[in-house]
Amino acid sequence: MDDSTRKDIKRIAVFTSGGDAPGMNAAIRAVVRTAAYHDLHIFGINRGYEGMIDGDLHRLDIRDVGNIIYRGGTMLKTARSKRFMEAEGRKSAYEALQAFDVDACISIGGNGTFTGAQVFSEEYDIPFIGIPGTIDNDLYGTDYTIGYDTAVNTAVNAVDKIRDTADSHNRLFFVEVMGRNSGFIALSTGIASGAGNVLIPETETSLEHLVELLKLGVKRKKLFGIIVVAEGSKLGTAPEIAAKVNEAIDYYDTKVTIIGHMQRGGSPTALDRLLASRLGFGAVEGLLAGEENKMIGLVNNEVVFTPFKEAISKEKTPNQQLIRMAEILAI
Ligand code: F6P
Repeated sequence: MDDSTRKDIKRIAVFTSGGDAPGMNAAIRAVVRTAAYHDLHIFGINRGYEGMIDGDLHRLDIRDVGNIIYRGGTMLKTARSKRFMEAEGRKSAYEALQAFDVDACISIGGNGTFTGAQVFSEEYDIPFIGIPGTIDNDLYGTDYTIGYDTAVNTAVNAVDKIRDTADSHNRLFFVEVMGRNSGFIALSTGIASGAGNVLIPETETSLEHLVELLKLGVKRKKLFGIIVVAEGSKLGTAPEIAAKVNEAIDYYDTKVTIIGHMQRGGSPTALDRLLASRLGFGAVEGLLAGEENKMIGLVNNEVVFTPFKEAISKEKTPNQQLIRMAEILAI
C-alpha cells in the first residue's frame, strides 16, 4: 500500500443484487480475499439491498469463500428491491450500515443495482464501487459483464443440440435467448452457433424482410433453419414471430425453443472467472486508491472506472461490424 491509500476505509460490505449471473461467486471471493490482504474487515450482505435494509450482514473471512469460484448463482443470495427505491428504505439501509460501522460498499449487479447505488450516494456519504454482474452485457463502461460469456456458451450448446433436430426433420427453429432490451447474447449466440438469422432490438428488421431472406434460403437449398431471437426483439417474442412466419412460408415445419433461465445458471466459464477475479480485486484496490461511486470495468483489457451516472445512462450497443458479419456468414 502506498501513501495514497485511503486510511479511513477499514470495514467494507459486499453484496449481489438483481438477477444472478455465473461468476458472481468468483467476484465475491476476489473481493473478500483482496480485502483481507489489505487488513480490512469484510461483511457480506444477504439478498442485496433487501438485506441491507434489514441489517442482514455477517462477517466473511477468507475461508468462507473457499470452494465457490466454480459455482453459479451467488452465495450471498440476490433480490430486486422495491423498498430501496423509496427514501425510507434507503434511510434504513444507511442506518444498518452505520450500525455495523461499514465505511464502503461493493455492489455486484447490473443497471438497477447501480441506479440504486447512484441515488444512495447522492443522499449518504458511504462510497460505493460497482462490479458489473449480469448475463445481458448491457452496461456502458465495460466490454464484458460477468456471466455473459457463460450465458452465451449455454445458449450456443443449446442451439447445437437443437440443430440436430432441425437438420433431421427439415425444421425452422426460433430460439429465444435472454438479454432484456439488448441483443448481445443473441448476436454472439447467432454467430457462434452458425444461425441463419439473428433478431436483436438494436436493428430494424421487418417481418417482410425476414420472410424474403427465408425464401431466398429455400431457393439456395437451405433445408432447415435456426433463427436466434433476442427476448427484446421489436418483431415480438419467438412464438409470435414463428406464428407470423408460419403463415407466410409453408416450406418448413416451424418450432420454438425458449432457453430461459438455463442461461443464468451453471458453472462460470474460465473467461467469466478471470473477469470476476480481476474486477473483484480491482474494486477493492480502486476503493482504497480513492475511487468511489463508480463502476469498475474492463475496456480493451484494461481496468477502468466509470461514474455510475454514465454507466447507467449511456447506451452500449453491439458492434455494427459484427451485425453485418453475422448476416454475411449466414448466407
Ligand atoms: O438481467 C438478466 C435477465 O436474465 C434478463 O436477461 C431477463 O430479461 C431478466 O433477467 C429475467 O428476470 P427474472 O429472473 O426476474 O425473470
